[in-house]
Amino acid sequence: MKKKLFLLSSILLLVITFMWVKNMLEPEWKQYQVEYYEQQRKAVEKKLQSATDEEEIATLENKLAKLQKPKYEIKQILLKGDYGWAQQSNGQKTDRCMTCHIDEAKLTASHETVVKSFPFDIYGCTVCHGGSGRSLEEKHAHHGIFKHKRAMRQRLDHADVLFDMWEEMATLSLEEGTEWASFKDRTITGEKAIYMGSGKCMRCHTGLTAPHVERWKRVKFESFNVIKEAPDFIKGDEEYRKKCYECHTTGYNKETGTYEEEGITCEACHGPGEVFATFMDIGKATEGQKIAKITPAYNKCGGTEGCHRSRRHEMRVKFFRDSKEHDPYEWFKPKYKRIVTEALQKKKSGTNKKSDPTLPKHNIRFVR
Ligand code: HEC
Ligand code: HEC
Ligand code: HEC
Ligand code: HEC
Ligand code: HEC
Repeated sequence: MKKKLFLLSSILLLVITFMWVKNMLEPEWKQYQVEYYEQQRKAVEKKLQSATDEEEIATLENKLAKLQKPKYEIKQILLKGDYGWAQQSNGQKTDRCMTCHIDEAKLTASHETVVKSFPFDIYGCTVCHGGSGRSLEEKHAHHGIFKHKRAMRQRLDHADVLFDMWEEMATLSLEEGTEWASFKDRTITGEKAIYMGSGKCMRCHTGLTAPHVERWKRVKFESFNVIKEAPDFIKGDEEYRKKCYECHTTGYNKETGTYEEEGITCEACHGPGEVFATFMDIGKATEGQKIAKITPAYNKCGGTEGCHRSRRHEMRVKFFRDSKEHDPYEWFKPKYKRIVTEALQKKKSGTNKKSDPTLPKHNIRFVR
């Protein structure tokens, strides 16, 4: 009996040792890399068969040689943070998902909507997907992961989830001084939040917040209609007009040159409403409020970036200066003509010293 037990436990030990050694030599992740390099190799071989150009053949052969002896290794992204990243040492925070998800071309293709803003080598994976970044076992790595858009969106059940993500993104960003609120146009999938249109906001807020809504509707919403009558805008081509869209529309996209809505509507100041308007819609207005309220920081209206910066219309100056039909001051707000005249007089008498050589001689800084 004892002998049998001894034999059994010995076999068991042997099996365990064998499995352990096998796992050391053939870890789970390796099989994905084997598969991947195999696929790559086959693809290059196929290309090589149909290649005719000598130079191309040489490059392909070079590639093939490398793929025939692939290096199976752990791939990791060292994430910035208080984890020794600054010393380039192996920090505590590491995403190794790419050890298995090794096909970068495939990843880039499926992350078209985010990868430009959040390059993998800086932002890693877990900031959006969750999961355990360090682990190399699928089950453990995928624990609590948000695999698809639906899961990511379901995760967003209160505003703080979004704020935490923005904060993590700000920590990971390589740009000095990036604040969490810099990501306010992003939703929980890392994608740009959608503009809902002022009609959506006004459905509720015309009643809820009447004075504010009325005021902006009269002034800011109308801004684009005023621009449409400006002679330089009428004469200008689309390239010229794009300069105006930046401040006179809502949700202007520099890359595509398109905008969401004409005029300065609710979301121009409060940010795209996808998340907060949805919260307001589903009876979680308090959560929505938190997000909608962080948006318009008064100091962002002016400054050097905001719409109300002092030299905001310098691109219009040339048109009016060169035009024979127009009053050269028309580029400036007519309402302020009085101020212009006064300031000109001041300048003549020498009290207004500052002048900018890039602007016309009688240019006046915006005065309120
Ligand atoms: C040990 C290998 C391994 C590791 C480590 C790993 N994954 Fe995966 N992952 C897989 C495999 C295999 C699949 C496909 C099978 C499946 O859906 O479970 C997958 C599927 C996924 C999917 C869903 C893809 C789809 O189309 O269904 C996502 C998202 C994902 N992984 C993200 C991650 C993230 C983020 C990490 C790091 C925290 C990670 N994975 C770590 C092997 C791994
Ligand atoms: C900025 C947020 C973000 C980051 C960072 C990110 N992902 Fe994703 N990922 C997404 C979104 C959003 C989707 C869903 C795309 C869809 O459903 O159309 C997705 C989908 C996926 C999928 C399923 C699609 C596919 O290609 O099969 C995998 C796998 C995946 N991610 C892995 C990773 C890995 C690995 C990393 C890190 C190298 C990573 N992701 C980093 C947002 C992100
Ligand atoms: C379904 C109705 C509804 C919609 C749609 C809606 N809101 Fe709201 N919103 C509310 C409610 C209710 C509150 C909470 C009001 C309160 O408690 O004073 C609120 C609060 C706010 C606040 C914060 C007010 C404060 O003092 O804290 C802002 C800003 C805001 N909404 C902007 C918007 C914008 C911009 C949109 C359009 C993208 C929008 N809302 C769409 C119902 C709505
Ligand atoms: C940097 C932001 C910015 C840009 C770019 C910009 N504007 Fe403006 N514009 C403003 C602001 C701010 C106001 C109104 C300020 C106020 O009412 O206090 C304004 C007001 C105007 C007005 C109204 C003046 C009046 O008669 O009352 C016209 C017309 C105008 N802009 C035309 C244009 C045109 C045309 C372009 C493009 C060539 C342009 N703007 C580009 C910020 C900008
Ligand atoms: C020109 C920028 C701008 C526009 C356009 C704008 N808001 Fe606001 N809104 C603000 C600022 C700034 C505050 C903060 C006011 C404060 O704290 O005193 C605010 C506050 C609010 C509040 C809080 C309650 C209140 O009356 O102070 C609500 C609700 C709101 N906005 C909704 C809207 C809606 C709905 C629209 C579109 C009809 C809109 N806003 C358009 C800048 C804007």
